[in-house]
Amino acid sequence: MALTTEDGSLAYKADTGIDYITYSDYTLSADNPLAGAAAWIEGEFVPADQARISIFDQGYLHSDVTYTVFHVWHGRAFRLTDHIDRLFQGAEAMRIDPPMTKDEVARIALELVARTELREAYVSISLTRGYATSPGERDMTKHRPQIYMYAVPYQWIVPFERIANGVKAMVAQTVRRAGRNVIDPHVKNYQWGDLIRAIHENRDRGYEMPILLDVDGLVAEGPGFNVAIIKDGELLTPGGAALPGITRKSVLEVAEALGLRTRLADITLDDLYNADEALGCTTAGGVWPFVSFDDAVLGDGTPGPYTRRIIEGYWGLINHPELITPVRY
Ligand SMILES: Cc1ncc(COP(=O)(O)O)c(C=O)c1O
Repeated sequence: MALTTEDGSLAYKADTGIDYITYSDYTLSADNPLAGAAAWIEGEFVPADQARISIFDQGYLHSDVTYTVFHVWHGRAFRLTDHIDRLFQGAEAMRIDPPMTKDEVARIALELVARTELREAYVSISLTRGYATSPGERDMTKHRPQIYMYAVPYQWIVPFERIANGVKAMVAQTVRRAGRNVIDPHVKNYQWGDLIRAIHENRDRGYEMPILLDVDGLVAEGPGFNVAIIKDGELLTPGGAALPGITRKSVLEVAEALGLRTRLADITLDDLYNADEALGCTTAGGVWPFVSFDDAVLGDGTPGPYTRRIIEGYWGLINHPELITPVRY
């Protein structure tokens, strides 16, 4: 939440309403064109509204791209190594040769954040097949892979009050999540055709968030987030048609620390409807409770006790010295 101040600079000070999630209190420079939002495109740092890529980039033309999004909180990047490792694994699966090393990617991403001055940021790194010297070239071997980055203020994919009160979700009926034999959901990708259809159905049916099943009818994930259920002291999350989310990794660690057993598992619609508790998680919003799926209300319809502790535990984990990289502003 940005407030314009008199000298034209932007001050950041937001009240989240949950005392363990606090924004930094600071002011962006009025005379820095990169302050507040910026990108790194082909070797240059540019203000966000001037970020442009080639229309011939195969990432745009054929979604021949993988990406990751990490976040910065209180001026510290969270699990940056995990994010860059996943990006490079995706690159290998897609046979895109990254044009720089992991260390270079990390260094530029951190510098980008520093230049934006943002203390709470959402940072995207895309790796595309790129483009060739001759416009419209179809021979993949002639495309030069590209990395593009942008950093903007931290994003919440869930309205903040829902983190406290819980989300009423629906299970999409008109579309299924692509499986590993179609578009591999283990590689973070922009092929959101299935997820976007679910978002439209969700709007039509008046729920707060959609969840998709995979082609076998098992729970997969939602548009931009992983799903987990808790049943009889065990936290289960889909291992099949779902991204190996970095936030999910944190959720599994926090859950184990709380004494829950954890497992990647096949979750049926019945399991979902009969869960003791359920949660969603992603970089852009952390962790939130689900309180119902379709007409099935979980427990008493309020966020479950384990879920509340996992949310708090997650926001504690983002201070963990081994998981954070300070941004040098
Ligand atoms: C399809 C999908 N699933 C899950 C996630 C959550 O992943 P992470 O926790 O690494 O942000 C995302 C993140 O954008 C996503 O796009």
